[in-house]
Amino acid sequence: MTSQTSILYFLLFQLTIISQPCHRFLTDAAGGRWNYLRKSIGISAMHMQLLKNDRVIIYDRTDFGKSNISFPDGKCLIYTNCTKSMIDDFQPPGTEIGKSNVPLANGKCHNYTDCTAHSVEYDVLTDAVRPLTVRTNIWCSSGAVMPDGSLIQTGGSFEGERKVRIFKPCSDDKCDWVETESSLAVKRWYATNHVLPKGGQIVIGGLDQFNYEFQPERGSPILYKLPFLAETTTNRLEQNNLYPFVFLNVDGNLFIFANNRAILFDYSNHKVVRTYPVVPGGDPRCYPSTGSAVLLPLKNLQAPSVEAEVLVCGGAPKGAFAKANNKKNATFVAALDTCGRIKITDPNPKWVMETMPQARLMGDMTLLPNGNVLIINGAGAGVAGWETGRNPVLSPVLYHPEGKLGLRFECQNPSTIPRMYHSTAILLRDGRVLVGGSNSHDKYEFTGVLYPTELSLEAFSPAYLDPENSILRPKIVTTASQTTLKYNQKLLVRFTVAGTVAIDKVSVTMVAPSFTTHSFSMNQRLLILVSEKVMCLGKNTYAVQVTTPGSGNLAPLGYYLLFLVHQDIPSKGIWVNLQ
Ligand SMILES: *[C@@H]1O[C@H](CO)[C@@H](O)[C@H](O)[C@H]1NC(C)=O
Ligand SMILES: *[C@@H]1O[C@H](CO)[C@@H](O)[C@H](O)[C@H]1NC(C)=O
Ligand SMILES: *[C@@H]1O[C@H](CO)[C@@H](O)[C@H](O)[C@H]1NC(C)=O
Ligand SMILES: *[C@@H]1O[C@H](CO)[C@@H](O)[C@H](O)[C@H]1NC(C)=O
Repeated sequence: MTSQTSILYFLLFQLTIISQPCHRFLTDAAGGRWNYLRKSIGISAMHMQLLKNDRVIIYDRTDFGKSNISFPDGKCLIYTNCTKSMIDDFQPPGTEIGKSNVPLANGKCHNYTDCTAHSVEYDVLTDAVRPLTVRTNIWCSSGAVMPDGSLIQTGGSFEGERKVRIFKPCSDDKCDWVETESSLAVKRWYATNHVLPKGGQIVIGGLDQFNYEFQPERGSPILYKLPFLAETTTNRLEQNNLYPFVFLNVDGNLFIFANNRAILFDYSNHKVVRTYPVVPGGDPRCYPSTGSAVLLPLKNLQAPSVEAEVLVCGGAPKGAFAKANNKKNATFVAALDTCGRIKITDPNPKWVMETMPQARLMGDMTLLPNGNVLIINGAGAGVAGWETGRNPVLSPVLYHPEGKLGLRFECQNPSTIPRMYHSTAILLRDGRVLVGGSNSHDKYEFTGVLYPTELSLEAFSPAYLDPENSILRPKIVTTASQTTLKYNQKLLVRFTVAGTVAIDKVSVTMVAPSFTTHSFSMNQRLLILVSEKVMCLGKNTYAVQVTTPGSGNLAPLGYYLLFLVHQDIPSKGIWVNLQ
């Protein structure tokens, strides 16, 4: 045996013992390919957002210690380290919610210097990485892209917990984070943001915050109570409702899922308009039990009443957090293997349960351009948090929303890199899924630990990108570098296909790129624009007519990736701006 093959053998052997096998489940063969893009982007991809110039803004936290990417020209930053903040403020289970007898940040601070970056811009087209400057801690924060394409990020921890920061994309490598003058009404750590139909965003919850506010705000932000978040807190230590799963429903209300249940919320009038039943089993699905959730593709957009469905997958059973955090006798309980699917527009909605091929928590759910959902990353046991994840799940699973109940999951080929706590996955314009991060340690730890900190980036290419499919793969023909769309507009999309076109299998999809962190992709949304007619324009060249979404409730203002889909195989996307 050559030394190379023995290394391979060793790796394979290791994989079989550390990973959860993905049993072929009811449906056919595994698919998809993995590509290792970079050993290091310098930081661990804990938060990711794709911007309209195909660059991804990535950041972890400023107090992780020295990262693996330095600022150029010897530039350094001075950070303030306050030894006490809400993180030190945890109370034992059973403490009355919202009451803490420990005072918050006591002002004992000291300054320290760091000459490494904790945020980078990754250019998908050139594979270049550029260090960015964040001046206060952005750890476990949230954000959303505004209609003009700039990212507004909110909160973080310690001295950064009430900050609002903006990143405006540029092509000359000169743009950077700007810390604004505005301040959040309260500290936001583990909050969820969602874009609103006419622009702006809502910021919901976070540790100890049973309330919400709006950004950007002129003047002081107003704080509104949201008792649902207090009602869904398991206990102060565990919570189970952090990074709530929030989706804009087609009626303009917000679907807010926390712990094991959801409400429909009218944020304009500050009223709960519907209460959804508890997911059968009652187990928690939000941080630190960390399942994931997605708004399934919205379709039939011209119908008098459009339907919307939400899928929530994985998480950790009740009690898993206490068992994993029992320092004297830590045990890591198997994750949940169920998904619940619910029609949120139904006046009398019920959860329909499905079983995944593998149990999973800390997975990401990524909408693919053809409307399927990729469930990727995560662990088979434990809970989210420092050192408490086990049994990395290396195989992604595809979920076919249109499939028959019981036949919707399809196992995909595995990666070799565990991606658990603080890992991320986002869709790229070319149809690949960018995968990064994973750090279950309180600092960067590269050696001598279980599951070292990952600074690497990979891409997962679903089977639609296989070379065999190139004959059917459509290509959008456009001369515009960027297309502006209006609501309810007839749109002709020109495309080419080398092979024979199945006219009844052509559609157009629009995907809103997400702000992804902690297994939840905020603002992720996919709209299916049904083909009204397909015209043949010449050899291999066609045009399909579709109608753009009718309102901001269906598709909030802003940038989307538009794909032409033929027989489930998407083209490369083009950026469009819905105005
Ligand atoms: C840090 O980056 C260098 C390349 O700049 C790379 O060789 C090294 O492996 C990286 N370290 C880690 C721990 O990824
Ligand atoms: C912040 O201060 C605390 C207490 O002095 C120390 O333990 C910690 O390492 C410091 N963090 C950084 C990033 O300097
Ligand atoms: C820390 O730095 C800030 C400005 O960056 C300064 O205002 C403050 O006085 C410094 N604190 C200490 C203790 O040096
Ligand atoms: C450790 O925890 C497990 C599961 O929670 C329990 O079954 C076992 O009895 C505990 N062992 C000890 C020595 O307490």
